[in-house]
Amino acid sequence: MHDKWGPVHKRHKIARFVVGLPLSFRVCDMNPFATIPIEERYAEFHKRYPALNLIGNTRMVEILCFKEEFPEVRVYAKAEYTNPGGSLKDRPVRRMLLEASIEGKIGKGQVVLDSSSGNAGIAYAMLGAMMNVPVQIVVPGNASKERKLRIQAHGARLVQTDPLEGYDEALREGHRIADREPGKYFHCDQYANEHNWLSHYETTAPEIIAQSEGKLTHFVAGIGTGGTVTGVGRRLKKDIAGVEVVQIVPEDFPGIEGLKPLENPGDIIPKILDQSVVDHKVRVSSAEAAR
Ligand SMILES: Cc1ncc(COP(=O)(O)O)c(C=O)c1O
Repeated sequence: MHDKWGPVHKRHKIARFVVGLPLSFRVCDMNPFATIPIEERYAEFHKRYPALNLIGNTRMVEILCFKEEFPEVRVYAKAEYTNPGGSLKDRPVRRMLLEASIEGKIGKGQVVLDSSSGNAGIAYAMLGAMMNVPVQIVVPGNASKERKLRIQAHGARLVQTDPLEGYDEALREGHRIADREPGKYFHCDQYANEHNWLSHYETTAPEIIAQSEGKLTHFVAGIGTGGTVTGVGRRLKKDIAGVEVVQIVPEDFPGIEGLKPLENPGDIIPKILDQSVVDHKVRVSSAEAAR
């Protein structure tokens, strides 16, 4: 079947990979127990805050629901929801905060400030509470109630922007707040912070390579800040010959929380996004993704 976006079955296949785990999956059978060591640079922090060890080294699972339709294709997903904050955003936020701490940018009363669609906000709030660092998060007002409640439950301050202003308004408001009182905040700015994509370059991608034993032909992901696509894409392309990166393009509305189409003229393109690593773009509607 075709619609305005092309063959429906092809998008359907990839949508499942992005949005979440369907009920039918099993742990990857290649190298399921492969983990990567923590980076030496952060070892002291991992001793001081042992809960940091819970972030990353997530399992890779095989998605079984495509087996009948595409018997020759094997599809795997990283179970990022098993991170303590419930998403892959724990990885970049851990690295950005540890680097800020090493560089003396936090820890002396500065409030960690950033905008988020919700999941990075949870990671900031959770790790900020652990490190005894105050946190303020700007989210679009239509972020899910659960995400907002969890950010507040960790003791972080929540600022909400008008959902009608679009998903980039939270980002703009974060900059306005930081500019008004520069001394008060450490503006982490995940859209421009190099440690965002580096966290995926140094953890997510090496885990995928180890767990798949390098037998990987395609990597599929959506874009929020672009950290995942840029970091994983750069590392896979360095280490695995011929691997291709596929970017999921969600609908504007109702959309998928955290993922952006980045196709409208006024859209802010994240500074850290390296679009040169993207080989293909695939449009996925929210209805298809949820099926
Ligand atoms: C669950 C989830 N996955 C993926 C992304 C997008 O990742 P990135 O910001 O690395 O592009 C987000 C962004 O908020 C997210 O919340």
